[in-house]
Amino acid sequence: MIAGSLRRGPGTPADWLGPLPVRDWFDDPSRPLEIDVGCGKGRFLLARAGKNPDVNFLGIDRMLRRIRKIDNRARRLDLNNIRLVRMEAYYAVTYWIPAGAVRTYYVFFPDPWPKARHERHRLFNPLFLDALHRTLEPGGAVHVATDHAPYFEQLSEIFADDARFSAIEPFVPGEDEQTDFERYYIGQKTIGRLSVRKA
Ligand SMILES: C[S@@+](CC[C@H](N)C(=O)[O-])C[C@H]1O[C@@H](n2cnc3c(N)ncnc32)[C@H](O)[C@@H]1O
Repeated sequence: MIAGSLRRGPGTPADWLGPLPVRDWFDDPSRPLEIDVGCGKGRFLLARAGKNPDVNFLGIDRMLRRIRKIDNRARRLDLNNIRLVRMEAYYAVTYWIPAGAVRTYYVFFPDPWPKARHERHRLFNPLFLDALHRTLEPGGAVHVATDHAPYFEQLSEIFADDARFSAIEPFVPGEDEQTDFERYYIGQKTIGRLSVRKA
């Protein structure tokens, strides 16, 4: 959980700059690691972790309030396989996550930054794909969903242009795992889903 992770946090300033032993934050570091990027209020993360006790889950979000709420719920549900960090996701994946450490990334409803002049703030770009590729284990997957059609088009293009990833059947969560944003948009908007595997 957040407090435990921080207590066992890096000891020297040099540790902050390089990859951190993220897998060691869990009781059993040998279990596969899956990361929910921009985990929001944690509906997916909590449900997924509850159903998969043999998998370690890391939630990343920049909003401390959301991270704290998920931490409280995880404790109440006695979910020992969740850890949380409050951090900017691009920074975390690029600098913090060790190479080949991650089996699966979930990125559901990333902020779309709909105005043309703000597009550069979007999480997905070729540099973020470099970071995903570096940190995924061989055969590891990335699952993305968005309600924003232009962002979905852009995502589809940048993954199609990158031979390091191959498209797989899109991941569709069960009702119990739908995120808050998915539940909000369902029936109102088309949800674009894209899943890829590290080739
Ligand atoms: C639109 S919400 C989606 C939340 C959740 N995935 C869902 O589907 O309900 C986007 C979430 O990502 C977080 N977020 C956006 N950009 C981020 C970034 N660069 N780094 C970390 N978190 C980010 C926001 O704080 C917010 O909780």
